[in-house]
Amino acid sequence: MTHDSDATVRAVRLLAGFQYAQAAFAVARLGIAGHLMGGPLPVPELARRSGTDPTRLRQLLRVLAGEDVFTLLGDDRVDLGPLGPAFAPDTGSSAYELALTWADTLYAPYAELHRTLRDGVPAPEHHYGKPMFDWFADHPEHAARFSAAMREGLRTVRYGVPASLDLCGIRSVVDVGGADGSLLVRLAGLHPELTGVVFDLPHVVAEAGPVLDGHGLGARFTTVGGDFFVADDLPSGADCYVLSYVLHDWPDADAERVLRAVRAAGGDGARLRLVELVLPDWPEHPLPPFAATMELTMLGMLAARERTAADWERILAATGYRLDRIAPTSTPLSVIEATATNEETRS
Ligand SMILES: C[S@@+](CC[C@H](N)C(=O)[O-])C[C@H]1O[C@@H](n2cnc3c(N)ncnc32)[C@H](O)[C@@H]1O
Repeated sequence: MTHDSDATVRAVRLLAGFQYAQAAFAVARLGIAGHLMGGPLPVPELARRSGTDPTRLRQLLRVLAGEDVFTLLGDDRVDLGPLGPAFAPDTGSSAYELALTWADTLYAPYAELHRTLRDGVPAPEHHYGKPMFDWFADHPEHAARFSAAMREGLRTVRYGVPASLDLCGIRSVVDVGGADGSLLVRLAGLHPELTGVVFDLPHVVAEAGPVLDGHGLGARFTTVGGDFFVADDLPSGADCYVLSYVLHDWPDADAERVLRAVRAAGGDGARLRLVELVLPDWPEHPLPPFAATMELTMLGMLAARERTAADWERILAATGYRLDRIAPTSTPLSVIEATATNEETRS
């Protein structure tokens, strides 16, 4: 057997991923990137503003300069590199809220992945003793941070999604699992006649009212708290039900229960719009990078998975929907368009 030191170095780099993640979390958490949004700073000044030790900070900056997070300038000054704005709040490419929510809620349970691979029990159930969304219900401050990360995703990676949601002929919509209502705010701007409801768990949807009011949309959109597994909780009779980034969180049997409940609430002819990844149908190929990241989250945190077009078609057919079209967006996600058929498939 030949000695391949290159392969070992790459393998060690992969193993060190936990250290890089913590380094990136620290950059977000301590505001190191945020302090550089106004331009380059001397390292001692950046250390003062971020409450860090200048010698330790210099070590971190040098490592992360190799990852394009920072650019080291002469005379002990530092600037943001191409990836730097992602770690500062409220930039067009921000992953700041995601960094904080992953640091606080996902990082520790993910250490249980090896157990999940054996028993199929999601890592949070090993670590927290309960499923992720149940743990969020006990920790509303972390649920709010998670919603903020979702909102941030709509402003960045998923920015192009609302413009690609075809709502032609649709007057009323329910955003099921709509979190703080950010998607409906965007849709309201694109469709001036649209009315609707944000539906989510009660402690989550509590944030949506102020968001809608803040955009002057309180008269057009309301909020309802409930459980999307329960048909009677869901607002009935809307023209269209949107589930954005929701069903991928659930294994097939649970995803089908949600769809049956939505199908029952919407009735025959109601439209469905799913915003989801649609994986390429080639099992022998590695996943593209964004899909791979999401697949790791689904695998460990939810014992769920991302799906192919054939998977979506099967789940829709099993729950009384006809798949009309899968429309690409300008993002890695697609919009899966379906219509509730006349077939009685409710369980
Ligand atoms: C991944 S987030 C997607 C949020 C939003 N739709 C978006 O596109 O950014 C999944 C949402 O499902 C909600 N959720 C989870 N379980 C639920 C349940 N049983 N009933 C209603 N909503 C639920 C969560 O609170 C969360 O807001």
